[in-house]
Amino acid sequence: MCGIVGYIGKKDACEILIKGLRRLEYRGYDSSGIALHNGRKINSTKSTGKIVNLEEKLTEKNSVGTLGIAHTRWATHGKPTEVNSHPHSAGDITLVHNGIIENYQKLKEDLIKKGHSFLSDTDSEVIAHLIQEENIKFDFERSVQSAIKKVKGAYALAIIHKEHPDKLIVVRNSSPLVIGVGNNEFVIASDASAIIAYTNKVVYLDDGELAIITPTDYVVKTISNKLQKKQEQQLEWNDEQAKKEGYEHFMLKEIHDQPHAIQDAIRGRIDMENGMAILGGLTSVDKRLRSINRVIIISCGTSYFSGLVGEYMIEEYAGIPTEVEYASEFRYRKPLLDKNTVVIAISQSGETADTLAAIKEAKNKGALTLGVVNVVGSSIARETDAGIYNHAGPEVSVASTKAFTSQLTILTLIAVYLGRQRDMSMIMGRRILSELQKVPFLVSKILENEEKIKKIAYKYAKFENFFYLGRKYNYPIACEGALKIKEIAYIHAEGYPSGEMKHGPIALIDKHFPSVILAPKDSVYEKTLSAIEEIRAREGKVVIITTKDVTELHSDKYDIIYIPKTLEILMPIITAIPLQLLAYYVGTKRGHDVDQPKNLAKSVTVE
Ligand code: G6P
Repeated sequence: MCGIVGYIGKKDACEILIKGLRRLEYRGYDSSGIALHNGRKINSTKSTGKIVNLEEKLTEKNSVGTLGIAHTRWATHGKPTEVNSHPHSAGDITLVHNGIIENYQKLKEDLIKKGHSFLSDTDSEVIAHLIQEENIKFDFERSVQSAIKKVKGAYALAIIHKEHPDKLIVVRNSSPLVIGVGNNEFVIASDASAIIAYTNKVVYLDDGELAIITPTDYVVKTISNKLQKKQEQQLEWNDEQAKKEGYEHFMLKEIHDQPHAIQDAIRGRIDMENGMAILGGLTSVDKRLRSINRVIIISCGTSYFSGLVGEYMIEEYAGIPTEVEYASEFRYRKPLLDKNTVVIAISQSGETADTLAAIKEAKNKGALTLGVVNVVGSSIARETDAGIYNHAGPEVSVASTKAFTSQLTILTLIAVYLGRQRDMSMIMGRRILSELQKVPFLVSKILENEEKIKKIAYKYAKFENFFYLGRKYNYPIACEGALKIKEIAYIHAEGYPSGEMKHGPIALIDKHFPSVILAPKDSVYEKTLSAIEEIRAREGKVVIITTKDVTELHSDKYDIIYIPKTLEILMPIITAIPLQLLAYYVGTKRGHDVDQPKNLAKSVTVE
């Protein structure tokens, strides 16, 4: 996830853009850049690291202009270097981009054949060249429309043209973009936080729309040149609320980001025709992956629990024996590995010290190492032999939410990839992938039910102990649910396989010890029902998360949260959501700082 900002008006654009970049820094940064039109030409300046590094490079000469665009990068394609930083230019065109272009490789190949040469590894530079190519035939506006029609993926773009010192064009599809409407000036940005200091009158572009902005006016059209009538809105947010897009905490915002984050994990990675996952990051090790006979997943915290789900997925669908281990244990054991073992490290930050040390150990023993990492260019991404990026965007809240469901999504793709290399049929591959494509929508359906979940959370916020129970695919999710409520609400909670209750833990159950039970209608549903009965018989209070097609569970006996149905392998992505919301609302009800829980850190780079 990156942040873009643009200005057109009468004022000094540079100052406004730099301030805007600072406000967008929370969206993540590894480099930044700015392009200003001085009336004659466009000057671009870029720098790696913090925005202050960019400022240091700005001189009287390259910082002049009343039209400009700027970008804070959080790498998705290509390392966080100066060359890969935005803005990107081709001929007269200069642009900044937030999003992921799915078909950039094919577009790039075609453009190279037409004589274009590229400086960076980014998908974004391809769009600049594409527009420049169209600009030979069309005017600025039409060349943008024509080029965009060829682009597949997510984008928010701000584009300027050397010959048009009074025009800023912005385009949007699946990436956020807001136009701030001032008095004879416009500030555009990825979100309102970069705009709010200048105006609170905004227009939100919808997917497939572009705006042509001059210092005095703006017009919104579709990519197919149909005029659009847009409603201007008044924002009542302060600066802090704007960063969180109006949500009270980053954690809640990130829970709500999940439909997008899951979509971004899938984007460009599905080959429906062949029922196969397209994982470009594994191409270099594709052959070796065909001969591995053992998978070990290593990770910590929340990422450990996504690993546990991965174990079930890979064993069931790829038929490869799989183990999951806490990285902190793995590094000090004497793990038995060989060249036919693949070690998959899962890490949101890509910097967790234990996971990093475990990878080094695995490499020393000759295993193939892969990373499932959210932060491009992070230590784990660099240390592993190959890997897959989440593209979930930066997670600001310490407790992981969107990175977790994104990891589950990637693990599903890995299971299909390894499965299709082996015995999985094309039909099965297609079935999983087509259901996976529906998951973002199903997640948004649960989020619509937030009020009900909040009510239940408030009812249970007084208890000091919880069991979280699940079976098969939902056992790891029960563990993650328990971890979440520990982290956020400081409540003692244990995640348990529901079948294990009778072997000891049930001794603790009474009316002061509630249980949250994951009981979707799946292959182990009947077994889970028995666990619910056993708890009820001991006066234990129960919150049940289940699908609407169950007939045995009634709301007069239990607090029930209904979730949509999907394939069993995909259910963990669905069941995780209400547990995140439960933890969030119990934590806030208890008055905790849920974004920065006590004693915890986002990135644990020490042992
Ligand atoms: C810390 C964070 C957790 C996270 C864990 C692993 O403990 O507070 O939210 O799950 O580290 O982090 P990683 O970045 O490796 O996924």
